[in-house]
Amino acid sequence: MSKVTYYSGQAFPMEMHKVRIIQKLTLLPIEERLRAIEGAGYNTFLLQNNDVFLDMLTDSGVNAMSDIQQASMLIADDAYAGSATFTRLHKKLQEIFGMEYFLPTHQGRAAEHILSRAYITPGQAVPMNYHFTTAKAHITEVGGEVVELVSPDGVAVTSDNLFKGNVDMEAAERFVAERGAENIAFFRMEAGTNLIGGQPYSLANQRAVYELCQKNNIKLIMDASLLADNLYFIKEREPEFADWSVADICLALAEACDIIYFSGRKLGFGRGGGICTNSQEIYNELRAWVPLFEGFLTYGGMSVREMEAITVGLDETLDEDMINQGPLFIKHFVEEMDRRHIPVITPPGGLGAHIDARRFLDHVDDHDYPSGALASAVYLTSGVRGMERGTLSEQREEDGTEPIAQMELLRLALPRRVFTLSQVQYAIDRIHWLHDNRRLVGGLEWIDEPPILRFFYGTLRPKGDWQHALVAKFRQDFGDSL
Ligand code: F0G
Repeated sequence: MSKVTYYSGQAFPMEMHKVRIIQKLTLLPIEERLRAIEGAGYNTFLLQNNDVFLDMLTDSGVNAMSDIQQASMLIADDAYAGSATFTRLHKKLQEIFGMEYFLPTHQGRAAEHILSRAYITPGQAVPMNYHFTTAKAHITEVGGEVVELVSPDGVAVTSDNLFKGNVDMEAAERFVAERGAENIAFFRMEAGTNLIGGQPYSLANQRAVYELCQKNNIKLIMDASLLADNLYFIKEREPEFADWSVADICLALAEACDIIYFSGRKLGFGRGGGICTNSQEIYNELRAWVPLFEGFLTYGGMSVREMEAITVGLDETLDEDMINQGPLFIKHFVEEMDRRHIPVITPPGGLGAHIDARRFLDHVDDHDYPSGALASAVYLTSGVRGMERGTLSEQREEDGTEPIAQMELLRLALPRRVFTLSQVQYAIDRIHWLHDNRRLVGGLEWIDEPPILRFFYGTLRPKGDWQHALVAKFRQDFGDSL
């Protein structure tokens, strides 16, 4: 990979691409940002994108495409059945994963839906390194139980562990022995573990989990949605594979599992998803669900244009100069915040920078949703839209009790190749100001709380009147600056 060192000794991330299409942005004055967040019920999911300056909500479906991806969309072969576009995507997946079979889905959670319906019977456990919201919702919807076996470092905010997404092997062996293989639907490994800060696991760890699964006749399913980051980190951080090509690391991961599913909104920088396997038996077990819920077997709810873009995007995923932009920018973002004593998840992961809202707002009670409050406060302060990843993103127990999330995070995702370094510097500056004024920020309470995936569309209000105090202090400190 091309590493650039600077004469000055400073370290800046360097993009190995140039920008050829741009989109104009607006930065509203803080008084209008206040009106916008009020209108959105203090839920950043409900903001209008026109009211957002830097959209760091997610990288899902909003990564920048390359010129070749855009060009490929023009040669898409539109057919309900048997399109050449599908064949190209299928061949690309066979090449990068070495897996024979592919079932397309309209996005990642649709694959989770099919896998949960097909393989979980009520009462069965699904052990995993860590859950993702949609995966957990689908598993519990069919009566399964999510069991998290991530190493204790995984949920520590700061750590030296370079693979915080690793499964704790001792805990996994104990769990399989105690619960019994017959009570385990499958094992799930999530690459680039989303909810603990986009943290990778090592190839050695997945191999160890696979060995345990094989010994006990349990299927291992890899969620490869955030695989690009995980591939980069294995190459960078796992000495044994430093000289391996990204393609070989990818094949080795695929060899150490039975099923791979992915969100094409992340992996492949497009929109779509699917399930891959080398087992004809598994393929046959899953196949019937695709025409029922997704679409015919050669599109699965995806447009042919998106399938073409994903095919090229998968190729680019094996190019280290393409996949390093996210992790390098995130490293800069995290390290600069850390230097300013803003509590962040370390080591820097993929996906985005993650602020520890529990420490940032240590005066706000867990039941008053500190990361939801911080997401609103960051938007008010900067026009930057992040995503709450804490208690709000959990779901109440059946008896109505509120499980408090292990980690209370504000995620500032960096969609790949979208933002410049000066925009990242702006976000750091405003978050720094907010941190210095954090005592002004209070908690949130529900106006309307939906029972399932409430974080997507529930509405809240501030407890007290802290939003006005924050706006007044901003004006006092920044004068008429946006
Ligand atoms: N698995 C992981 C690890 C994900 O990050 C996502 C989506 C999914 C599955 C579901 O895929 O959205 O295509 O249905 N993550 C998005 C995010 C929503 O913002 O992190 P999908």
